[in-house]
Amino acid sequence: MSASGRSRGDFDQGWLFHKGDIPIPYAVKGGMTGGLTDCAQREEGEWLDIAYVNKEAQQVQDGWSPVRLPHDWCLDEQYVNDPELGSRAGSHGYLPTGIGFYRKRFAMPAGEHGRTIALQFDGVTGRSTVWVNGHLIGERFGGYTSFSYDISDVLRYGTEGDNVILVKVDATDFEGWWYEGSGIYRHVWLQSTNSLQVADSGTFITASNLSDEQATLRIETRISNKEELERPFELRTFIKESESGREVGALVMQSKVVDIGEKVIEQELIVETPRLWSPEQPFLYIAISEVYENNQLLDRYETTFGIRSLLFDADRGFVLNGSPYPIKGTSNHQDFAGVGVAMPDALIAYKLKLLKEMGCNAYRSAHHPPSPALLDLCDRMGMLVMNENRKLDSSSRGLEELSRMVIRDRNHPSVILWSLENEEVLEGTVMGARILRTMSKLTRKLDPTRPTMAAMNHGWSSGGYAEAVDIVGYNYGHRGADLDGRSKNPDRLIIGSESASFTTTRGIYEDDPVKGYCSAYGTSIPSWGCSPERSWSDVIQHPFLTGVFLWTGFDYRGEPTPYEWPCIGSHFGMMDSCGFPKDIYYFMRALWRDEPLVHLLPHWNWPGREGEPIRVMVYTNCDMIELILNGRSLGLRQVQPMSSLEWQVPYEPGELKAIGRNQGEVAAETERITSGKPHAIFLEADRLLIAADGADIAAIRVSIVDMRGYVVPYADTEVSFCVEGAGLLLGVGNGNPSSHESDRASSRRAFNGHALALVQAGSEGGGITVKAAAAGLLPAVLTVEAHPAAGAFMEEAALLGEGEERYV
Ligand code: GAL
Repeated sequence: MSASGRSRGDFDQGWLFHKGDIPIPYAVKGGMTGGLTDCAQREEGEWLDIAYVNKEAQQVQDGWSPVRLPHDWCLDEQYVNDPELGSRAGSHGYLPTGIGFYRKRFAMPAGEHGRTIALQFDGVTGRSTVWVNGHLIGERFGGYTSFSYDISDVLRYGTEGDNVILVKVDATDFEGWWYEGSGIYRHVWLQSTNSLQVADSGTFITASNLSDEQATLRIETRISNKEELERPFELRTFIKESESGREVGALVMQSKVVDIGEKVIEQELIVETPRLWSPEQPFLYIAISEVYENNQLLDRYETTFGIRSLLFDADRGFVLNGSPYPIKGTSNHQDFAGVGVAMPDALIAYKLKLLKEMGCNAYRSAHHPPSPALLDLCDRMGMLVMNENRKLDSSSRGLEELSRMVIRDRNHPSVILWSLENEEVLEGTVMGARILRTMSKLTRKLDPTRPTMAAMNHGWSSGGYAEAVDIVGYNYGHRGADLDGRSKNPDRLIIGSESASFTTTRGIYEDDPVKGYCSAYGTSIPSWGCSPERSWSDVIQHPFLTGVFLWTGFDYRGEPTPYEWPCIGSHFGMMDSCGFPKDIYYFMRALWRDEPLVHLLPHWNWPGREGEPIRVMVYTNCDMIELILNGRSLGLRQVQPMSSLEWQVPYEPGELKAIGRNQGEVAAETERITSGKPHAIFLEADRLLIAADGADIAAIRVSIVDMRGYVVPYADTEVSFCVEGAGLLLGVGNGNPSSHESDRASSRRAFNGHALALVQAGSEGGGITVKAAAAGLLPAVLTVEAHPAAGAFMEEAALLGEGEERYV
């Protein structure tokens, strides 16, 4: 037991995984919750690995392999165009789901007896069933919601023997129309607390009356008592600055809590000269809640929070800490190359870093609640979040899912909106409005500080639907917002909840329906989509639109619009599925960031097309652009705000250069150089120092370069990786939306010059050497250091934007 009365550690290691179903009969005696474990036999002095009701599982000796969580078993499957699934196969990226089992054996020290032991899951795909020592502990459907089981009674303590957890994951039924993966794909935790404790997600901290001098904090703390007697207690609350640890306030309150029940304590405190949270300065505080009984510390619970104000205004749009703040957002699913949905925290941080580098300040977790890790990182790295509920559903289960999301996430300063649904068929109907109103009322009661919204694609003016929420989301339809929403409802709060769906494939300049590629010029965008340029200019012209969430930041598995098989992934991203920027990324970066930027497309390798006109475009935020081909100026052009420039340039190999000027002065420039043949592999890591914590990762970006070091824009060489030392190769990818190569392999073809290898640290410090080799190319070696104490400076390193220009 920890001195603070509470211990909580990740429970991700030491699991075994079995693919496929194992029939497990329900217990008859002892009821569904078991009670039969202790009737099970001991074999050679040990309890049966999976006792009694799970005997069949025990008999499956083969086919269990060690895994570390988070885990997504779909990555071991083959891509298959299953005719039985029809279009659903494509939605899921043609990777089959199915049923899998996880089990873990562990010992529980005798000293834990009498305490409350909770097994907590951040997210398990589809339907999950959990047994502990043969007792059925719980069943859930809903892969995006965190849940927790009290397993204290059914554990074996000390000499009673080992414990076995068995988890069945049935991912057969999809919950969405995108790639959802399969497995225990988020963290698992084991928590031990006293019987008098702060309840799970038991604090709610809000700030009001903000000024430069002061902020009023209201702290609600739910104390839970699991004993059959009323208990007096003292709650001591300390507020500290997260980084410096400086205490800025403290409160003490005595009270008592009834037997087997809860007590909510409300405290108020003034913080002098509060430091406000924003994406640019994500300043955090920590509330430490200590629960004492007879002067003995029984629990110590920490809540990270931020102080900031938010307002949605019908004319000015979003106002953060008193100033208008246009939302530069992207919508995102959670998967990534190499790992599927089983995202290590460091990879989530990598994605957020890439989005921030683009100038993005907001993340929409589409179309479901994000992982707790993502929200922690958004708080720390500075990213606003639209937190989205999965379904329009006011059944008891639907409301339970919704309230779990709100109660779990309402202390995160990054969360600014509760999106209650996305594009549901009942939008605009009176029945839909009733359901939405019920959900909205519950959400407002649980959190009066943030608005509710619905991400709608129709029905904005009928059934009273739009009126059921505080803010009306316009998915794509915001271009008609002026007609449909604004003029009829001048006071309506509006947000561009989803826009663009601009389909492009990195490094491709001609649509290719056979291979399933979309040209970077954006010539095959879907009928409902538009250019990101149009999305953003709408917001600038109509501040009441509040902002926009582009569909999407990254390509994701599934939804291979506009193609189907053999294409398996989407093309909507500003970046590909490995995080390599596409041309359109630079267009947004030029709009969203202030630093002068010039980006030129396409690449300048067009053998056999000498003399033919090539469509050349420049994305920039400079005033004037001069285009220069092999030292000859092709003229100087004025740039219209929020637009691109275009030329037809007769191809000749060499150097095409664009120089950007602001008020006559050169502000930025870029060039495209005709590369020679593939000659060597070049490796670059996002971080050269990572934590030796068994989880941290380095993203190794691979380029195929010519003799002079220029990236070969068409190179598709297969690269083999060998990782030695204090880490392992976690996965690979290349951003090709039609690649059927496995992401869990030791080699990968490059796609248009690039590939990605993810390297994961082990739990011991040392060098991790990554060797990359390919037939006919010079190999490359890179060493990443895994450091036992790297955690402290990890985050800072994650924010450094190094070397991304190589990927132009
Ligand atoms: C939207 C939907 C997204 C995705 C997108 C593709 O209507 O909300 O989930 O399907 O279209 O353009």
